[in-house]
This record gives sequence, C-alpha cells and structure tokens, in this order.
Amino acid sequence: NRQQSCDLILFGVKGDLARRKLLPAIYQLDKAGLLAAGTRVIGVARESASDSEFCASVEQTLKQFVAVEEIDKTTFERFCKRLQYVSLDFSSDQYQALADKLSGFDNTPVYYLATPPSLYAAICKGLEQRALNLEPARVILEKPIGHDLASSKEINQQVGQYFKESQIYRIDHYLGKETVLNLLALRFANSLFSSNWDHNAIDHIQITAAEQVGVEGRWSYYDDAGQLRDMVQNHLLQVLALIAMEPPSRLDADSIREEKLKVLKALRPIDESNSHITTVRGQYSAGFVGSKQVPAYLGEEGAQADSDTETFVALKAQLDNWRWSGVPFYLRTGKRMPEKRSEVVITFKEQPHNIFHETTSKLPANKLIIRLQPDEGVEVQMLNKIPGLGKNMQLKATTLDLSFDETFEKKRIADAYERLLLEAINGNQYLFVHRDEVEHAWRWVDGILDAWQTTEEKPKSYQAGTWGPVAAISLLAHDGRQWDE
Ligand code: BG6
Repeated sequence: NRQQSCDLILFGVKGDLARRKLLPAIYQLDKAGLLAAGTRVIGVARESASDSEFCASVEQTLKQFVAVEEIDKTTFERFCKRLQYVSLDFSSDQYQALADKLSGFDNTPVYYLATPPSLYAAICKGLEQRALNLEPARVILEKPIGHDLASSKEINQQVGQYFKESQIYRIDHYLGKETVLNLLALRFANSLFSSNWDHNAIDHIQITAAEQVGVEGRWSYYDDAGQLRDMVQNHLLQVLALIAMEPPSRLDADSIREEKLKVLKALRPIDESNSHITTVRGQYSAGFVGSKQVPAYLGEEGAQADSDTETFVALKAQLDNWRWSGVPFYLRTGKRMPEKRSEVVITFKEQPHNIFHETTSKLPANKLIIRLQPDEGVEVQMLNKIPGLGKNMQLKATTLDLSFDETFEKKRIADAYERLLLEAINGNQYLFVHRDEVEHAWRWVDGILDAWQTTEEKPKSYQAGTWGPVAAISLLAHDGRQWDE
C-alpha cells in the first residue's frame, strides 16, 4: 500500500467548501480503499462540539452531498472512526488542544486551510508556536491567493515564514480534473499531436469555461473578485499553461511547474494601449437559462444596487515565444451562459491548396476538441470522402468522437478534490501551483485590471442565457474567426 498514514486537519470544517467538496472527497477516498488504516480526519472550527456530534454532522453532510448510491454503511462506519474534532479560535494562541490531538501518533499532518486567506497567517503562526509546522507537515491552501499581485505576495510571504515551499500545496481544482490531466497524455504520449503542436500547424486555440449558475449566494465575495480574478487568473491560465508549455523532461513537480511558469512569463502584457482590442467584459441582465427565469446580476440575493463587476470575460492572449508566435489563445468564461461547458478547441491551419474545389470550395480546418466537462472526451474533426462511385469526390466534415464514458466504461469519474487530496497525502506536488506561477499570473491579470480602470471600461450587458456580449463575437470576427459552437 503506497498510501501514507496521515492526519488530515481541516480548518474551516463547517464551511461550504469542506462540506460540499472536502468531506465527500475524503469519504470517496476511504471508500476506494485509498486511505491508510491509521489515517484520521480532524475537523477544526470555532464552535464547540464533541467527536460524536461532529461525526453526526458529517453524516448529515455526506447525505446531502454524496449520491445516495455511493453511501454504504461499512465505509461510513470506518470513516466515522477516523473523525475527530477540535474547537479552536484560529486567531488565538490556543493551539495546544490541536497539538494534544496530534501527539503520540506517527501520522504526517496535512493541514487544509479551507478558510478565508485573511486567516492563513494567524493559523500558520499558531501551528508554528506549537512546532506543528515542522516537516514532514504539509499545508494546503485554497484560492483566492490574493486579490492582486501585491496581496498574493503578502500571503505567500506570510505562509512562507512558517512553511517551506516544498511543504505548501496551492490548490487549483482544475488541475485535479481527469480531462485536464489528459492534456498531458494527449500531448506527450502521441506523436501525432506532439509533432503538430506549434505555430506551423495550429491556427489558434480557444479555451471556454461556461457556467449556467450565477453567483450562488456568494455575492459579496464574487462582487469583490469578478470573473477575471475568479476564473481566469487561476483555472484558465493553468489550462493555457498546460496546453502551451514545452515538454517537461519528467512527470514531476519541478519539471512541470518550471515549464508552466515559462508560459506565464511569456504572456504578452495587456494594458490600456491594447485592452480595448483584446478584452471584453460583460455583466448579465435578467433572462432565461434553459427554461428557468433568472434575475440580473444586480438582482441576485445579497446584491447591491450598483456594481461594475464583470461576470463574463473574453480575452485574446498571446505568447511571446518561438513555439506560439502568431497563434492567439482566445479565452472565454462567464456565469449564466446557455450551458455548462468547459472545453479546449485547437484549430489547425487550413490546407495551403485545395484540389477538391469542384465539390468543396473551402476545406474546413481540422479541429481537436478536448471536452473538459461535462461529457468528458476528445473529438477530432476532419474531412472524409463520402463513399460512392460518383465522378467528383464528395467530402463531408466528420467527427472522431472518443467519449470517456463509453471508451473506458467508467462508471464514475473521480472529483478533482479526491485526486488532489490524495496527491497531497502522498506528498506529490506536481498538481499544485508554485508560488512563482501564482505571482506571474497575477502580474498579467493586474495589467488587465489596471487597463480597465484607466480606460474606465464598464462591463457590457448580456442577457442571461446567452454567450456573452456581442463584443465577444467581434473580438474573434476582427481576426476573421469565430467561437466554436
Ligand atoms: C471556482 C470559482 O473556483 O470554480 C467558482 O470560484 C466557479 O465561481 C467554479 O463556479 C467552477 O468550477 P467547475 O469545476 O464547476 O468548472
């Protein structure tokens, strides 16, 4: 059994993230037999509760957030025996209770800070005061790591006082998604793609992360962040980095993170001189998503009357490096879109000469579509001859469609948090984000935010249930391209 026995200590265990994602993920790991026998799960929050009360509340949480058919009595009984609880005011110096819980066990402590980042420093300091931060202890940090470059540096520096970089695991849950990882397999295990992965073969790349949901009761957090900070700074730039990076020499943390960092450094700055032709901001007005009527962003629960926060962003990103010279990366992400869809579309260059012009005046470009979610899979669009004896060749655009469900007969695709927690338990950092990556991503995003502020770029309205403002279409139309639908 390669799993190490550890203590998973969840700070903020009563919060939304722990309840929706972390506890269900740890339960699933236990169910899959991936937790070592001695592993414990220690919830930490301010309110007082006994271990058995905590266990009862976890049971309720699992019933709420784990599919009924996934819950079984044996796993739950085993899981319950792992659960313990410590009541703690995070900003106090009363970490002795936690120290007592941890002492006498030979388990590696893995702290998960599922709290607002404003508490990270206090928690790390509290741990240090009881020498709970010493190696091999690890700490997992949730986003947002900062609000801009300066605040992210401050957080990284504060945590860095108490934990070494090799102990810090910054989560970007997109890196735990099966299909995002499959990008590595597609690119580096298939010569068909690896030898056609640059400006010679590729015309442009689109990355879309669309959601039907609105702000889901998180108005005050979201209004302070906006879609650029909430989705682009982290998830979309991480996906872009994996697509664009040079082949790492090994599948390990240092090699991959170094290559991703080079991509982030190569992003051409967007500033007030070019933001009007490279970015589009949008905010949804009332409309229909599916058949459901939904309010405008400003009419959501908890909303203030007025806000210029964007709920949609479209961007044209360019990399100033050899491989991607002249190849735009179009990014688009928004709330209240017509469907939930995250995908990467790689459009290859058109053929230089058309010998089929008698039947087909224009040969459509080949596309590789990587469906990140839902309906995970990979598609290749290509032209084929329609079988038949006719004199002229009749061509048809066809699709090679590899759906994960059917191809791998997988009943269930693990949630990103399951994989990431497992990697953290095993001390493998390759799916976690290095401090330098976070900061370089912020540097680029700050440029855009500054440009929007200087040019007083207000978000353009789009109706909920549509693909964003018309300007997002023009962004590509200007280059003679269009979004893949
Ligand atoms: C989170 C954002 O990081 O990612 C949310 O804070 C967003 O606003 C979510 O809804 C999207 O994640 P996924 O996995 O559903 O694409």
